[in-house]
Amino acid sequence: MKNFGSTHSESLLPDSISPTKSMDSRGFSSVGRRSFLRKMGAAGASLAPVAALLLKQDQALAREFSRGLTRGDVDILRFLAAAEILETDLWQQYNEFGGVQDNEVPGGSGNPAYTAALSNLDSDMAEYIHDNNDDENSHQMFLNAFLQSVGAEPVNLDRFRTLPSSKATGAQQIGRLTNLTQLTLDTSWYVRYRSTENPDLGVQFSPPFPIVNRPAIPLDDNDTPPNTDLTPPITTRNAIRMQAIADTAAFHFATIEQGGSSLYGSCIPKATSLVVLRILYAIGGSEVAHFQTWHDKAGNAVSTPLAPLTDPTAPEVTFPDLNSSAFGGEAFSTNLIMPEPCEFISHNLPACSIIRPTLSKNAGPIAVVTFLANMGLFKGQTPEFFQTLQRIATAANEARRRLASDDDDRLEGF
Ligand SMILES: [Fe+2]
Ligand SMILES: [Fe+2]
Repeated sequence: MKNFGSTHSESLLPDSISPTKSMDSRGFSSVGRRSFLRKMGAAGASLAPVAALLLKQDQALAREFSRGLTRGDVDILRFLAAAEILETDLWQQYNEFGGVQDNEVPGGSGNPAYTAALSNLDSDMAEYIHDNNDDENSHQMFLNAFLQSVGAEPVNLDRFRTLPSSKATGAQQIGRLTNLTQLTLDTSWYVRYRSTENPDLGVQFSPPFPIVNRPAIPLDDNDTPPNTDLTPPITTRNAIRMQAIADTAAFHFATIEQGGSSLYGSCIPKATSLVVLRILYAIGGSEVAHFQTWHDKAGNAVSTPLAPLTDPTAPEVTFPDLNSSAFGGEAFSTNLIMPEPCEFISHNLPACSIIRPTLSKNAGPIAVVTFLANMGLFKGQTPEFFQTLQRIATAANEARRRLASDDDDRLEGF
């Protein structure tokens, strides 16, 4: 096995796990589609048994995984593991308030008014939030386990779980990695995916409306009492305030997941090993599925009967009716959630329906860190957190695909 500098070894494996057990895609015994959190006990549960299981299952498989793997491949997977840990942290907060708190995605107790406001966007929102949380956790667990299986160092951001939890009903009182209370969202993806033009060919897009410095989760029970009636039509101050928070969340969901979709796409041309390419395509596809879902739900926040809606604490933040004549047309229509065919690769080729952007400068690791920081997602984090994230992102950003003839260029020991 190649040595990627990890101090971990196969000895992590619990001997009690039988290699002949039926296994699901995450390396857990097959006891249910979304069983891993139940098996692990918590979203932040130890990774060691997963990696250990993978290793013990078949060390020959681990050798196969590491064949052709480059330092760049490892750097890509390490950044993606970090990104997935951050995603899991934010989705966990959403699930505690407005998802389904069960033994698959434990933690939190739910906020009735917030859940009702999300339900006004789609009655299945709670399940979707739960499943998105489940998926992100599976991504980070898998990526770190894979890294360990090939002798590479997994990513652990636990020392940065220092941000406070919301004081509103529903939240666990634990340290967080991400801050969902002061978000400034670049929702230009809404226009970008309706356009025939492509940022990778130099076109810039503006958000359809501003969401600046706003909470996407309830802050406390004085601001948004959890027993507020959210039954439409929404007329009371407290109900409008809570709906504005839920609407912000709906746009945040899609903003995050379109970024993830582009990030994975940007990493594929940098990867060398086939198994890493398979991982990038397959997890990236899951991010696209999330984006498509949230794109649809965000549209319900900017169409009748909920829209227009103005946050009573911030008159400048209005969720407009994007189907109204003031906007109008294909650049805004809320039912146009499939990627409009756009320019791709060259102005001279036919328009193509694609994920975009996928160029590294627009969607790669460094671009994503900037995107998330500008969003306010890390407000309150320490300088060490930013330095760590930047270091992991820089390594991934610099990864380059190696051709067979480049074998000699691989670093010693790989
Ligand atoms: Fe993910
Ligand atoms: Fe995601």
